[in-house]
Amino acid sequence: MLTENLLLGVILSYLKIVGGSHLRGEIEVSGAKNAALPVMAASILTDEDVLLRRIPDISDVWIMADILRSLGAKVAFEGKGDMTINCSDISCVSPPYELVGKMNASFDVTGPLLARFGEAKVPLPGGCNLGSRPVDMHVEAFRILGAEVVCQHGFVHAKAKTLQGNKIRFRRISVGATKNAMMTAVKVDGITVLENAAMEPEIVDLAVFLNAMGARITGIGSNTIVIEGVKKLSGVSYEIIPDRILTGTYLAAAAVTGGSVTVIRTWPDFLESFISAMRSAGQKIICGKDYVKLEKTEKILPIEISSSPHPGFPTDLQPVITAMLTIAEGTSVVTENIFDRRFMYVDELRRLGASLSVSDRTCIIRGVPKLFGAPVKAHDIRAGGAIIAACLAAEGESTITGLEFIDRGHEKIESVLSDLGANIRRIG
Ligand code: EPU
Repeated sequence: MLTENLLLGVILSYLKIVGGSHLRGEIEVSGAKNAALPVMAASILTDEDVLLRRIPDISDVWIMADILRSLGAKVAFEGKGDMTINCSDISCVSPPYELVGKMNASFDVTGPLLARFGEAKVPLPGGCNLGSRPVDMHVEAFRILGAEVVCQHGFVHAKAKTLQGNKIRFRRISVGATKNAMMTAVKVDGITVLENAAMEPEIVDLAVFLNAMGARITGIGSNTIVIEGVKKLSGVSYEIIPDRILTGTYLAAAAVTGGSVTVIRTWPDFLESFISAMRSAGQKIICGKDYVKLEKTEKILPIEISSSPHPGFPTDLQPVITAMLTIAEGTSVVTENIFDRRFMYVDELRRLGASLSVSDRTCIIRGVPKLFGAPVKAHDIRAGGAIIAACLAAEGESTITGLEFIDRGHEKIESVLSDLGANIRRIG
């Protein structure tokens, strides 16, 4: 085990977890990261004040705020999840690589800049290590709407004198391309039809937000979205939806520790495929209108799951359910169909004593009776959630590095888990 001093010498901060406590109690989940980020970007579409509520206090949100400021917008955190954005003084259409390179969702500003100013020059985005993250379908959508797009020297440069509504059929379902196409089409002349569009709750939230600004979007929540362009979008006050991925993460963490947790101010309807998988794994889950409760059960049963676009099993909950299945009574099979390198965290679970083997897109998990604490590292946001859950269940002490990924998506993670009875501390 690395000593605290050695860790402090090399790495800025880490989490120290002494596993074995059963998570118990009630927690309120934050607003959804993947809804907050595009809604912040969509605020570019108006020169009036936007007030956003339930914005999570996470580093991805701070990065998006800095990106908007780099363009000339005023962004203020008002406390308790409130944020005001005013984009009346935007004077630049090219955010810097130093910010855009930090997360994939930075590319969300491209569509709104193009729609409002007729130009956007945005570096290719960076972000989590999940495999290649091309933006070819975003670019294709901008071109179909009438933009000239040049991809050179690491930038996507889109320009248009006028944009015109059109039919866009995505060759595969993409959350990012659907968002950018929708945020562009709301302000073009004529009608745009998005076919094979993503149906994730965060896409629905973005469309509802845009309509609150005065956009005319129908087919929301279906795979065919129809957008009638309008001349002007207005300021609005809007509350972000609850984070379904964090809700699922806390429930799976409760299950792997043999605990009982209720997540409140959340929407169970967003989590149907996850809840159904958890029930197949022998977990007792009770849903109310705005809460989900996981009750203590004696064992975790093995299951087979396969990630797919909404309403299928979410790829972002694949790592944490895999972590839970490491101590199931039997062999589980998890298939990942969205990202080609999403199983990188499996090596970290092995350090804790889990038995997993990965071949291509499939992970076979042979349940073991117990996990044991070890030094481990998060390589992406959701891997971070999975590793934390596994360390909470493991016997003995674990240290988790890679907090720069964990902090991108988990609001106040150590205080949330401490409140549920976990022995977790941030060092450094
Ligand atoms: N793809 C292309 N070309 C494109 C766009 C996407 O080939 O132009 C591919 C991607 O490489 C990927 C697949 O299509 O294999 C799906 O990508 P998608 O565009 O749907 O995902 P995304 O917009 O990059 C968002 C979330 C992810 C979440 C996925 C899938 C945000 C900020 N990110 O990513 O969330 O896993 O949708 O639901 O909304 C996370 O929060 O940790 C996270 C990774």
